[in-house]
Amino acid sequence: MARVTLVEVFNHRITQKYLQRSGIHHAVTVAENALKLAVEENVSPDLAAKSALLHDMGHYEWYRDGKWDYAEYRKHDIHAIKGAERAHKLLIRLGEDRLVAKEVSLAVLLHTDSYLPFELNEKRTDLQEVVAEADALDEQPGGKHHYKEMDPSEAVKLLHVLDTKIEDHKL
Ligand SMILES: [Fe+2]
Repeated sequence: MARVTLVEVFNHRITQKYLQRSGIHHAVTVAENALKLAVEENVSPDLAAKSALLHDMGHYEWYRDGKWDYAEYRKHDIHAIKGAERAHKLLIRLGEDRLVAKEVSLAVLLHTDSYLPFELNEKRTDLQEVVAEADALDEQPGGKHHYKEMDPSEAVKLLHVLDTKIEDHKL
């Protein structure tokens, strides 16, 4: 079975729709971070980069009286649960291997514990840890990392570089 590439994942309309909220710049940067960490930690670079690219696709808007309401958002936040579901659906549609789709979905689900009533310390697998760390490396105070801009054509170029690295790594 041919590998589903990061560029294919990125170009799908589901990804295009849901990456708008959390930001293309953040998604691509976290995918780059995850690929580096995966090679160091001996984790699958393909799984790490895919999970990282999709990790925040569950973010949604929470406006009240026309204003983004962060406090309300945090109280009701289930972005990782939504993201896990969306990532799984997307990958299955793209013809991804079912086990890969499940691993990616779990890494998205557990990339943060900010919405959980307990901490995930030490409970994550190596893949899940790589994705969580890759995300933390790009985080900025006040969620500024979600607002950095990146042109979609620039994202495709960078993701193509990552795809090539992933394919080289397999050989
Ligand atoms: Fe993130």
